[in-house]
Amino acid sequence: MKALVLAGGSGTRLRPLSHTMAKQLIPVAGRPVLMHCLADLAEIGVTEVGMIIGARGEETKKAVGDGADFGLKVTYIPQPAPLGLAHCVKLARGFLGEDDFVMYLGDNILADGIADAAAEFARNRPDAQIVLTRVANPREFGVAELDADGRIVALAEKPDRPRSDLAMTGVYFFTPAVHEAVEAIRPSARGELEITDALSWMLDHGRDVRATEFLGYWKDTGRVDDVLEVNRVLMERLKGSVRGEVDAASTLRGEVVVEPGARITASTVVGPAVIGAGTQVSGSHIGPYTTLGRDCTLLGAGIEYSIVLDGVSVRHVEGLHGSMIGREADITAATARTRRLVIGDHAKVEVL
Ligand code: TTP
Repeated sequence: MKALVLAGGSGTRLRPLSHTMAKQLIPVAGRPVLMHCLADLAEIGVTEVGMIIGARGEETKKAVGDGADFGLKVTYIPQPAPLGLAHCVKLARGFLGEDDFVMYLGDNILADGIADAAAEFARNRPDAQIVLTRVANPREFGVAELDADGRIVALAEKPDRPRSDLAMTGVYFFTPAVHEAVEAIRPSARGELEITDALSWMLDHGRDVRATEFLGYWKDTGRVDDVLEVNRVLMERLKGSVRGEVDAASTLRGEVVVEPGARITASTVVGPAVIGAGTQVSGSHIGPYTTLGRDCTLLGAGIEYSIVLDGVSVRHVEGLHGSMIGREADITAATARTRRLVIGDHAKVEVL
């Protein structure tokens, strides 16, 4: 079985971070969301991966390389514009050939892997198998309606009146039967070739489309709040290790990773927390549920439940919570009765 990983898209909900980076490269629990997906694929024995990349694809290529770190062989498939999930299948036709494949949205996290779902697909080999999970707010998702025997009756995208609480996660298993469906469908009202429409076409034409329920933790990291929550959940599993320097005036509590070259002086770090390589933390309070990227400077800073990317500087600003701070951002305390902001397009700032 091959894999098709979707790492393009426009990421409008993750602006402004997605203006300058591929959203799938945002780190959760210290490594990019996309790497969690590749690890899941390696775990089920996939070796050949087709990866859809978009406008920020060069950076994705640089981060993933040829996939050898995961024992994978990655083939990049550029998508000229984000024209929909089913459009990705169409584009990948040459790569996929006549093989079965698992399609995995590169911004999704299925915290306990996809081994059970993959085994079920291999056992039954239906034309398509979707992975569902129960959600509290089905109106926000693609929802599946099942009959008493657990067979799929219908699928609806963000329905006003959901017929179940079973949402589609970002993982789908297909045989080559899907290709006829993606050729047959037309773009939706929002101009995209929808995978839900392809699946509905398969149902309408008597194809065997089945569901499997995922019981672990699932999240689509579409918005900042989702990324922070995934980070919190995955960090619960963090194992501390100190490979950088921590002075005698500092306290580390709980599971704290201090990467090589990081230096902590006169500070308190409450785990789970990751202090990235080369980062300097001084006179600060960090964590819990905080990841600091590489080569950051935190001086007299207070930050928790946050993700800080590489090269950020925070000086004499405390009380940061639930924040995502993009690369090389510079945050300092105001010195006069005015506040000065130099921030990019679509930034979100709360000021007291
Ligand atoms: P989405 O999160 O549904 O779409 P998006 O990235 O355009 O985000 P937003 O709604 O915030 O604008 O995409 C799910 C995954 O699939 C994500 O990893 C991006 C990827 N994708 C593609 O590679 N090509 C596409 O045409 C689309 C729509 C998504």
